[in-house]
Amino acid sequence: MQYDIHNISLAGAGKKRIEWAGRDMPVLESIKERFEVEKPLDGVNIGACLHVTTETANLMITLASGGANVRLCASNPLSTQDDVAASLVKDFGIEVFAVRGEDRDTYYKHIQSVLEISPTITHDDGADLVSTLHKEYSDTLAKNIWGSMEETTTGVIRLKSLERGGSLLFPVFAVNDADTKHLFDNRYGTGQSTLDGIIRATNYLIAGRTVVVAGYGWCGRGFAMRAKGLGANVIVTEINPIKAIEAAMDGFRVMRMDDAAPIGDIFCTLTGDIDVIVPRHFEMMKDGAIVANSGHFDVEIDVAGLEKMAKSIRRGVRPLVDEYTLPSGKRIYLLAQGRLVNLACGEGHPPDVMDMSFAVQALTAEYVAKNRGKLAVKVHSVPKEIDETVASLKLASMGVEIDGLTKKQEEYLGSWEIGT
Ligand code: NAI
Repeated sequence: MQYDIHNISLAGAGKKRIEWAGRDMPVLESIKERFEVEKPLDGVNIGACLHVTTETANLMITLASGGANVRLCASNPLSTQDDVAASLVKDFGIEVFAVRGEDRDTYYKHIQSVLEISPTITHDDGADLVSTLHKEYSDTLAKNIWGSMEETTTGVIRLKSLERGGSLLFPVFAVNDADTKHLFDNRYGTGQSTLDGIIRATNYLIAGRTVVVAGYGWCGRGFAMRAKGLGANVIVTEINPIKAIEAAMDGFRVMRMDDAAPIGDIFCTLTGDIDVIVPRHFEMMKDGAIVANSGHFDVEIDVAGLEKMAKSIRRGVRPLVDEYTLPSGKRIYLLAQGRLVNLACGEGHPPDVMDMSFAVQALTAEYVAKNRGKLAVKVHSVPKEIDETVASLKLASMGVEIDGLTKKQEEYLGSWEIGT
């Protein structure tokens, strides 16, 4: 067995946390129980590049229960939970290559370690594994891939761009775009965990503060809703006029970042875009402004620009809080070096919501294994039946029953025509 983790002796604590999360993932648990019997992934080599958290651990255990040989590396250098990595290796026999705080070279070395098992199915969060396969292994390992699952908005954007350019090499599934994923994970998961990360890092009171949210997509609207719930005055910045109207009609002030910069106390970017907060904004901000990012890559805040303009940088005011003093004497506090604040400063999304996202991942992996060789090389939507299965299982686990259509209602809804 091979692995590269921080410290195997952390396994005991990791196991307890994995089990704690598992208690709140009933849909994934029911899939695991079926996988144990049916072994739909028997002998399949699976390579995963995901945030190494307690929820991901439960997904890895589910895939292994289905008979897969799984190797896991991190999809972000700061999101790995070292105790979880240790327990996956020691208690569950899963080969993990991830160390919290690893440098860029180690991060990519770990991706290579995952590819060494020559996977036929992959799971990505941000498309780094698939990108490496396209860049370095287009004539070799990429040819073995039956199908690949992508967890996040930014990864799907990258894959669609490959598809448009005609360079996509194998079938991929946009797990992010499944309804049981983005409507809940991105909105309620990112909404809650991003605030949780900011609060854990700073211990700030949110009530009465002005919180500036950049981006009113699924993540941004969840964050704005939760910040409002805690008593913040929320301002939204957008580039999409329709999303901007939605934000305004949801009761938020909408303005340009240039206008929000001088009045915000806490800033959070959730756009998937680059250069959302740049040096001219820092100079306009109040003394003591807090700046964080919860979009996938650390490109939304121009950290290099901030470093260049700052007169001095005092690291470690608190863990993952860096103080930058500008020429004007104002201090700006950057959280988690501009990386995903919810995963770096907190534990990421709660298991209850990852239950659905990772149920979709597991069922789509099974679908790929069943349909290998028959799938077109393109960005696929997750089959509708998978979304419906996950939604029904989740509702059942919540003890919620809903009405069904009567025959008459079905006919009524199905037979509507213009003029009737
Ligand atoms: P989305 O596409 O639904 O929303 C992004 C929004 O940002 C859009 O409304 C877009 O118009 C807006 N936007 C783009 N550039 C902008 C700019 N310069 N200024 C202001 N607004 C701008 O995407 P979603 O699902 O909300 O994801 C956003 C980011 O969060 C992605 O990078 C995604 O991968 C990431 N993500 C992070 C998670 C986490 O755990 N922190 C979980 C899920 C997604």
